[in-house]
This record gives sequence, C-alpha cells and structure tokens, in this order.
Amino acid sequence: MKQQIIRCTDITKDLPDLLSNLQFDGLFVLTDKNTERFCLPRLEIIPEIRRAKKFRIPDGDEHKDLQTLSSVWEFLSQNGANRKSLLINLGGGMLTDLGGFAASAFKRGIRFVNIPTTLLGAVDAAVGGKTGINFNGLKNEIGAFAPAVAVLIDSNFFQTLDHTNLFSGYAEMLKHALLCGRDAMHCVSTWDSLNELLRFDLGKIDYAKLNNLLFESVLVKERIVEQDPTEQGIRKALNLGHTFGHAFESLSHEQNRPIPHGYAVAYGLVCELYLSFTKLGFDKTVLTQIARFVKENYGVFAFDCIHYQRLYELMLHDKKNETAAINFTLLKEIGEIEINQTANQQEIDETLDFYRDYFGI
Ligand code: GLY
Repeated sequence: MKQQIIRCTDITKDLPDLLSNLQFDGLFVLTDKNTERFCLPRLEIIPEIRRAKKFRIPDGDEHKDLQTLSSVWEFLSQNGANRKSLLINLGGGMLTDLGGFAASAFKRGIRFVNIPTTLLGAVDAAVGGKTGINFNGLKNEIGAFAPAVAVLIDSNFFQTLDHTNLFSGYAEMLKHALLCGRDAMHCVSTWDSLNELLRFDLGKIDYAKLNNLLFESVLVKERIVEQDPTEQGIRKALNLGHTFGHAFESLSHEQNRPIPHGYAVAYGLVCELYLSFTKLGFDKTVLTQIARFVKENYGVFAFDCIHYQRLYELMLHDKKNETAAINFTLLKEIGEIEINQTANQQEIDETLDFYRDYFGI
C-alpha cells in the first residue's frame, strides 16, 4: 500500500481533509507527555480530534516495550476499536514505531496515520513502514513492515525542538543527501542538496528553508522504500552510517553516557565515508567536508583504542548482517550506492584510528 506523505500548510485543515477521505469507525489518538501538552492542543480545534479517544504512553526508548504495547491494545479494546477504526500516532520515532506496530496487529491490522513531532521522526521513523518495539534488550527486535495510510509533516512542531533534537534529525538528512546523486532515480529536482545542507545556517534557522530541505529529504527515503519496502536490496542504502553508528550508540549506552541516535549516525557517516574512500575511491574532499561539519556541529564521541574490540563485537552482532561478515552500505561517489559491502577487523580498526585522529581524541 502506498503511503501518502502530506506536507502540511495548515494541519488544522489538512488533517480534517484527510479524515474526510478515510472512512473510519472510531478515531483514536496516541500521545506522550510532551505531545499531549505541546502538540495535541493545536489539533484540538478539529472536532473529530476533540471527540477522539486519547491515550498517553510514557516517553523514552526504555518504554518502547511489550508492557506499553499491551497498554495500547487494552486501551483500543476497552474503548470499542474495531477493524474500521483509525489510530493517529502523534509523536517522535518511539511513539510512531510502537503505535504503528500496535495498529498493525490489533484485530489483524487497523489503519493508522503518523504525525511526527520531531525532525528525526519526520525524516526517518514515521515514513517507510518499519514498526516495532524493543525486546530482550534488543532494539526493534519485534515488529512488522506496516505503512501508515498517511504521514502528515507539519514543520511548526519542530520550531520548539532543542539543538540536540534538531541535529539528531539533521544527520539523517545528510545521509539522504549523500544517497542522492545527479542521476539517481530516488532524487528530487535538486540533486545538490548535500551542499545546501552543509551551507545551511543552523545557528539562525530559516524554518521555511529547513522545511523545503526536509521535504526533499523525506522524498528520497520514500522513493527508496517504494522500490524495496521490505529491505531485500536497495533499502539497505538507508543503513549508510548506521553500522558504525549503532555500535557507537550501543557503546555509549553500555558506558552510561548515552548519545542520541542521530549523533551516532553523524559519527558513523564519517567512518563509513572513510571506508568508502579507502575501499571504493570515494572523493576525499567530500569526506573532509562531512567530517568537518560533524566535528563543528556534533562535537565528538570519544573513546580509546582499548574499545576497538568491543566496537567490533557490537558490529558483528548487528542484526543488519545476513552472514558472518559485517554488512556496510558504502558509496563510490555521492549517489552511487554499494550495498552488501564488508570490511575486516583491520580495516575497521584503521577507520577508528582515522576517526580518533580527525576528532583529535
Ligand atoms: N531507518 C531506515 C529504514 O527505514 O530503512
């Protein structure tokens, strides 16, 4: 089922328009503490939203679990949701992942709409149909591919995001721009979005411009997902930066100094572009541009060479690996994607050396 992506001009009109086109019996809204307080009031001038049954779940990745999932099913069940009901997920990536999964299995599947309230959620989690929860200490271990019937993107929600949340989403936008070459099928008109992103003034944000960049970025993901919804091939392109990135993120949690997902992806991009340079001849100038941008805007995730072995083990256990080898998506050049690449431990160590040298650790 194709997912409709709606760029809102005024969500108080766009959402009722959408609802009037979807025949449903019972409307339900999922929020968390922040979205209930800061985002829901904007929607409550819509009569259908005022009348909808609402449920608040706890925020934070630690609550993306069976217990929260089961509480959503209880809420739907006790409030008479049926197969024709519609669930609106109003929140960041954790909420749209969990709410989408709850909807995908309730009565064998009800429709849902995502309204992402974070940049990261809009550019990544809410789009593309990956839903799920964490289980047994493993991230997104249980889930389903289940696209929302529509994703409504309203950049007004992002204007109150703090620096960290904004930069977290921006890293995924950089990734999408790197996947977007001059002739790539999945790119929209301006193939040069990488340079626009690198030039964009994040100190003094022009939200209208950010909105344009965001929407182009979302379309890159949408077009890749359309070609390969269940990640048999080209969707793996979206894993660029994520093999090192997930290992950095996991190490940061193990060491009780967690870094946000998007920051880990930013550091991961630097490493994987370095691997792209050494293994596939990726342009060193672009590598340096990205590394400089990351260093200036994301600071550094510092570690020592005694942590190389642990990072290697974390990469070996990454669920993206389909064989015993570590799976990477690399680039020959911007937009020239090479999926299913591997690297040995020595190459990974060399990459970590480069990262630590560049960031002056
Ligand atoms: N977050 C990567 C994907 O949706 O495939």
